Amino acid sequence: MCGIVGYIGPRPAAEVLLEGLRKLEYRGYDSAGIAAVWEGELHCIRAKGKLHNLQEKLDKLHLPARIGIGHTRWATHGKPEEYNAHPHRDASGRLAVVQNGIIENYRELRENLKAKGYLFTSDTDTEVIPHLIADFLKISAPNTNSHHHGLLDAVRQAVQHLQGAFAIAVVSADFPDELIVARQQAPLVLGFGEGEFFCASDTPALVPYTRAVLPLENGEIACLSPTGAEIYDFSGQRLRKTPRTLNWNPVLVEKQGFKHYMLKEIYEQPGVVRTCLEYYLRDDWRPDADFSPIKLNLSPALLADLEQVQILACGTSWHAGLVGKYLLEDLAQIPTSVQYASEFRYAPPPVTRQTLTIGVTQSGETADTLAALELELHRRANLRSELQPRLLGITNRPESSLGHLVSEIIDTHAGIEIGVAATKTFVAQLLAFYLLALDLAWQRQTLDHSRLGAIIDQLRQLPAQVEQILESQERYIETLSHDFADTQDFIFLGRGINFPIALEGALKLKEISYIHAEGYPAGEMKHGPIALLDAKVPVVTIAMPGIVFEKVLSNAQEARARDARLIGVTPMEEQEARDTFDALLPVPEVDELLSPILTVIPLQLLAYHIAARRGLDVDQPRNLAKSVTVE
Ligand code: F6R
Repeated sequence: MCGIVGYIGPRPAAEVLLEGLRKLEYRGYDSAGIAAVWEGELHCIRAKGKLHNLQEKLDKLHLPARIGIGHTRWATHGKPEEYNAHPHRDASGRLAVVQNGIIENYRELRENLKAKGYLFTSDTDTEVIPHLIADFLKISAPNTNSHHHGLLDAVRQAVQHLQGAFAIAVVSADFPDELIVARQQAPLVLGFGEGEFFCASDTPALVPYTRAVLPLENGEIACLSPTGAEIYDFSGQRLRKTPRTLNWNPVLVEKQGFKHYMLKEIYEQPGVVRTCLEYYLRDDWRPDADFSPIKLNLSPALLADLEQVQILACGTSWHAGLVGKYLLEDLAQIPTSVQYASEFRYAPPPVTRQTLTIGVTQSGETADTLAALELELHRRANLRSELQPRLLGITNRPESSLGHLVSEIIDTHAGIEIGVAATKTFVAQLLAFYLLALDLAWQRQTLDHSRLGAIIDQLRQLPAQVEQILESQERYIETLSHDFADTQDFIFLGRGINFPIALEGALKLKEISYIHAEGYPAGEMKHGPIALLDAKVPVVTIAMPGIVFEKVLSNAQEARARDARLIGVTPMEEQEARDTFDALLPVPEVDELLSPILTVIPLQLLAYHIAARRGLDVDQPRNLAKSVTVE
């Protein structure tokens, strides 16, 4: 949700900033801009829309600056117009700020600053920051820049007046060797090179230049100069911190021949499943072993004597949580609730005993999920021992803010995902829930060991089965997608453990193709949604052999009776299913419990090909962002 970058060093700053913004464009793409200091002047270039508009403007300029900041915007306050694009400047035009987050008290600050005579030119919350810094700097005073750390101190004072979640970067023509950055509840990572320093909202912007990184913590501010990086807390106390090395390959964030990141990431899924299983399944486990088949490396106290689990997440991660609930209840017999983090924040349920709270997030930065976890941490902190917080994070980004907030993490090892629509990270989250539920089932002795062994054997088959679906289905789904050029509504049906997959199929389709889509538990259709059906509304039904198979097929028949076109995600071997559906998206026949990992794959491909066929920007759908760091 907005990406910021900053650079100071010997390279042409504009190129580094633009390249960094390209890597962060997944965070927002309503407008983009950079500000750079060169020959005693601040140069600020901004453009509405995607990054190539900014690039075109920069191509016409000669700007060999060595220090600058950049921003790619996901609009919160103010329309996506150039005058609202970052960087925002103070009245002198010599100081510029980029911000990711929301300044909640901006109205009050704006009124105070206006009363002092500061003029505002945008509708954004961010514009208060340069004016506030300028106010503290008293830019009009002579010899300001002779004051050691004048800019750093002014920014430090300014951030103490800001309420909300923010990460900022600041440059000034009066302090041409200082790039000031600060963080409060929004991500910001520093990058350390040889005589050069970087900052960015996320590491992909840094990996082409350096692997030595240091995520800033909340309440920290840094001054980056050609001679070093100094870090302080907001009270001005100097902090000593050591960067760590990122073991990352820049190739991971390239498209590698695929037309879109989303398709590349769909194809990465067999590898993601394989890697995750290799990390966490013990090869030496046998059904008669006296140790768990799963090695999650979680502290025993986290999982001991659990009475409840509550899962907090948003969007696709919430869907993974719904599958997780099914698994935890079925395999480990633990009552589990799944809450939207945004709802939990303002209406948390009563505190319950021995409760494990799981935050699920692919970005590790979702503001609602982090705030819900923090709330849980604080409201339980001083209670009796059986009510004390037990927090677990499930993410592919253990270095994220989530990783700092919770002490225990299941790293899904899915790596970074660039396509805004989550695919491989979702499948990896599902896997994390299988592993957790099986580990708990072993600890709580709720599952027969031979059944446990059988599930583990089937988990090991999944990478090849996902591969098989990709190989056999993609061409067909691409062709099928032609039929939906003018479709306006889709319904997705599933039951039991595949109901969340119906929700996920609908979400994938609507977010990248802009087609209205709804997911329902198949049995609920007759209670209302069936009124929507006619020959123009395709119904995608997930029908996997298991306890609800026949019921789902009956529900599909009810849709057929209303002329709906039926598409079935079902095993090829099932004659009855073959007879029911007009089009088949076959998946291998597996235990129903494991089927979500397979049934979601054709739905991802269907959403992808419908959107691509419509010529839409699959990786950067309108109004969305990969990392939702505002409330
Ligand atoms: C959908 C999607 C979003 C995210 C949601 C939560 O494809 O990606 O619905 O799942 O914004 O994001 P994370 O998982 O980063 O907390």
